[in-house]
Amino acid sequence: MKKSLVLFSMIAIGALMASEAQSASPTGRQMPAEVKEGVGYIKMLGKELKGNLKKYLKKDPSGLQAAYFCAKSAERLTKEVNAKYPENVRVYRTALKLRNPKNAPDATDRKVMEEMEKQMKEGTFKKKPVVVEVNGAKRIYVPLMVEKACLKCHGPVEKIDPKVRETIAKHYPEDKAVGFKEGDLRGVIVAEITEKKK
Ligand code: HEC
Repeated sequence: MKKSLVLFSMIAIGALMASEAQSASPTGRQMPAEVKEGVGYIKMLGKELKGNLKKYLKKDPSGLQAAYFCAKSAERLTKEVNAKYPENVRVYRTALKLRNPKNAPDATDRKVMEEMEKQMKEGTFKKKPVVVEVNGAKRIYVPLMVEKACLKCHGPVEKIDPKVRETIAKHYPEDKAVGFKEGDLRGVIVAEITEKKK
């Protein structure tokens, strides 16, 4: 009980900081430095994954090659990009409805995403980073929304190409990440910044 209260107050702080991040205007008001830092790391991974995804979707609009790419290379690419960050930084993706069990959320990840879902239902959701403090580390959460291109592999099952479906089922027999529609929250991409040891 107490723990969840602490967490929620942290989410509130996070929302505050994030709203400041949002209000960063072209006239030069800055995002809090760590949000900016985290978002920068998140963009590095996002660009790498999405760039490849787009490339393969363009080559093969059925989504089959892209599905192979995600299944075979998303983990490796995530590791490679993480190796480029400073030692106290890690970036990962997670979701409530999972495809890859290795991307499972921890209790904090879950709370943050549940809070986002709740805000979406209430109509108060804003697509902006949320900052949460966890055991002295800061986590910057960026929500990942479902876009049209995502539906080829995360949309309603009956609309997914049978070959793509087969590929996904082969790699992820426990897949829960289908049935989404455009604008849903698919998951989050998270930068965790641990305090540097002095
Ligand atoms: C071509 C098929 C394909 C498309 C298109 C696709 N994904 Fe995925 N997605 C996958 C596969 C396969 C995985 C599991 C491998 C991995 O990334 O770890 C996955 C995993 C994820 C994960 C990690 C959490 C989990 O469930 O394992 C997120 C978040 C995600 N996708 C979001 C998106 C978003 C947002 C889009 C659209 C911009 C998208 N995906 C488009 C196939 C796809």
